[in-house]
Amino acid sequence: MKLGLLFLLYLISVNADSYSPLSYVDRPCGDDLTNLWLDVIAVVDNSRGMTVNGLNYVSIFSLTMPSSLFTKFQIASNIASVFGFGTRIGLNASEPRTTRLGLVTYNSVATQMADLNQYQSLHDAFNRIFDDLSNTVDTTESYLSTGLTLAEKMFNDQSVNSTRAHYQKVVIVYASKYQTNGESNPESIADRLKLSGVKIITVAYGNAYGLMKSLSIIASPGFAFSNLVVSPGNLVGQVQTSLLESNCFCPDGWVQYRESYFDPASSRYGVCVQLVSLQANWLSAKMSCINRNSNLATEFNQDKHDFIFNVARNTKGFAPPYKYHIGLNYVSASWAWTQPTDRQQVPLQQPLMWLSGNPKPASTQSGVMNMQSGQGTGWISIAEMTGSANYVCETYSCDTDNYCDENMNKKQ
Ligand SMILES: *[C@@H]1O[C@H](CO)[C@@H](O)[C@H](O)[C@H]1NC(C)=O
Ligand SMILES: *[C@@H]1O[C@H](CO)[C@@H](O)[C@H](O)[C@H]1NC(C)=O
Repeated sequence: MKLGLLFLLYLISVNADSYSPLSYVDRPCGDDLTNLWLDVIAVVDNSRGMTVNGLNYVSIFSLTMPSSLFTKFQIASNIASVFGFGTRIGLNASEPRTTRLGLVTYNSVATQMADLNQYQSLHDAFNRIFDDLSNTVDTTESYLSTGLTLAEKMFNDQSVNSTRAHYQKVVIVYASKYQTNGESNPESIADRLKLSGVKIITVAYGNAYGLMKSLSIIASPGFAFSNLVVSPGNLVGQVQTSLLESNCFCPDGWVQYRESYFDPASSRYGVCVQLVSLQANWLSAKMSCINRNSNLATEFNQDKHDFIFNVARNTKGFAPPYKYHIGLNYVSASWAWTQPTDRQQVPLQQPLMWLSGNPKPASTQSGVMNMQSGQGTGWISIAEMTGSANYVCETYSCDTDNYCDENMNKKQ
């Protein structure tokens, strides 16, 4: 059974990154599961509720296996499947893009079944997770607070202040019920974890009253799932998507571009922007971004234009009337967006956001900045070497295609 499933999982392959800015859309987050680089702790309820709720679930496997074994098989196979697309589990001296996987079970108390260094390959994890989840405890008590507390301690002891400190941290909760006991409220522990940057994915097993709603509060926005709503294949996909999103982030001092500034849960791009409050002419601003391993920002569409404006309005050192350089410039007889030195500049397309009277003759005014006009901003052309303003740099995010080391230097 184990080997059969493992074989199946290895058959599925994943596309490499093929983004080009010439497509005139912003870069999506990397989506290569083989290159996932995270520290993950699975926190699994092993109280009696887990077995009971597993019975609600019908699958061909359940016909061939005792029910008590079935839920454990289901969770173990979910965890194994999530990473089964070739994610490198464990450490590898020559490849930093690896994922460590720890395992905690909980009922009235929590137990560390595997520390973050135990599983040293996908095969290893796959074989041992089944054994590590083999004992269901005959209790109806299931306190998620105990599991989250232990996961927090494991991160503190095994990841924070280690050579993996800069890896994004994720907890995946598998729970059959939601109970609180006195002072240890899972919500406050979850809030503390999320504030420290840990992402929480939840999977509700069964339909215990209020379970999904309670777990949605524990989960990071958009990361609460259920084994009932969708087929198991989709559940695997949902958890994988959440892991890829968790792996897509910006270094301190950079803001990740998302569809809507005002909706933190709106979809995120593999793009980071930095608003620099230093007065510079257009050319110096361009050089300064290059020195930050980035380029002056692009505005391919209205959403991006608005997003940058809203970040500016909330950045210290930016004040009305807002004005800041962006990466549009006139070269070789046409307008184009600057790109990193090794990439082709991107010819300007619609939509155009010129303020009226712009652009002026490009012979003297071949740089561009945003200038406040009413409640928004628009582009005005400016001389590249005179006049000064703040500016906006842009770079690719850290994600499965771009490993960022502890100093947040990107390597592809
Ligand atoms: C470590 O990574 C290298 C480069 O990706 C790979 O060739 C090698 O097989 C890996 N070693 C182990 C033990 O997985
Ligand atoms: C990490 O190191 C810093 C500085 O030495 C220390 O203040 C902090 O308590 C450490 N954190 C953990 C979780 O060990």
